[in-house]
Amino acid sequence: MKNFLIVGASSGIGLALAQSLQKQGHQIFTIARNHQVELENIGIKQILMDISKPLNNLSEHLPEILNGVAYCPGTINLKPFHRLSEEEIMNDFQVNTMGAVRVLQATFPALKKSQGASVLLFSTVASNLGMGFHASIALAKSGVEGLAKSLAAEWAINKIRVNVIAPSLTDTPLASKLLNTDEKKEASNKRHPLGRIGNVEDIVPMASLLLSEKSDWITGQIIGIDGGMGSLKP
Ligand SMILES: NC(=O)c1ccc[n+]([C@@H]2O[C@H](COP(=O)([O-])OP(=O)(O)OC[C@H]3O[C@@H](n4cnc5c(N)ncnc54)[C@H](OP(=O)(O)O)[C@@H]3O)[C@@H](O)[C@H]2O)c1
Repeated sequence: MKNFLIVGASSGIGLALAQSLQKQGHQIFTIARNHQVELENIGIKQILMDISKPLNNLSEHLPEILNGVAYCPGTINLKPFHRLSEEEIMNDFQVNTMGAVRVLQATFPALKKSQGASVLLFSTVASNLGMGFHASIALAKSGVEGLAKSLAAEWAINKIRVNVIAPSLTDTPLASKLLNTDEKKEASNKRHPLGRIGNVEDIVPMASLLLSEKSDWITGQIIGIDGGMGSLKP
């Protein structure tokens, strides 16, 4: 049994990942702003916290040794660049990037103690593939990718691995505005080389693998799970 912290586990990918890891017999701690009944029903310890602000004594709520952290909070704020306010850009940066910085600084001592821990961050296909109206999220997630690469190098000596999953459009509450009509869903499906958008079941197995010792020679990688969107033009 291992100890995992899943940040952003009240919905979407983080929720499905927490449920899957719990089923595998691990002890799971979660962070989100909102309480999640589905997690309570399976006995998962929930820490209610806003990671876009400085964290208050996070380590007090966590075990002394952490075997892994997955950081899942994200935003989708798609707009023409000239209409993005500084406040919106800073909010995307706080939630996607600075939140990860805060959580990883707070959990580093516990990760180090495990001498084989794994950190998983989330980026987006739009960091690498230029996509119109994605300037703010691409800025924030490119920061996440840079952070992951740097930490993978810096923490290798502590046997802490750091990897990133970069999904394309995935059917979660975060993406609901982009998928709220059949027409939008169909158009999104068609944009992907494999003919469909993703769902949490496309992401969770890789997330789970990257957190486990089965991937213990993989670090510093940005893994696209995107139906071919990030690298193919059929
Ligand atoms: N879904 C997509 O199409 C898509 C595409 C590309 C990349 N991604 C990335 O994949 C990751 C997971 O996305 P998802 O679709 O599963 O998102 P989601 O359904 O919106 O879930 C995000 C989770 O993060 C938590 N969260 C958000 N802001 C927070 C804050 N300030 N403090 C604490 N917790 C916070 C939310 O809980 P509370 O609201 O309760 O705080 C929620 O549990 C994200 O990093 C996202 O950028 C998703």
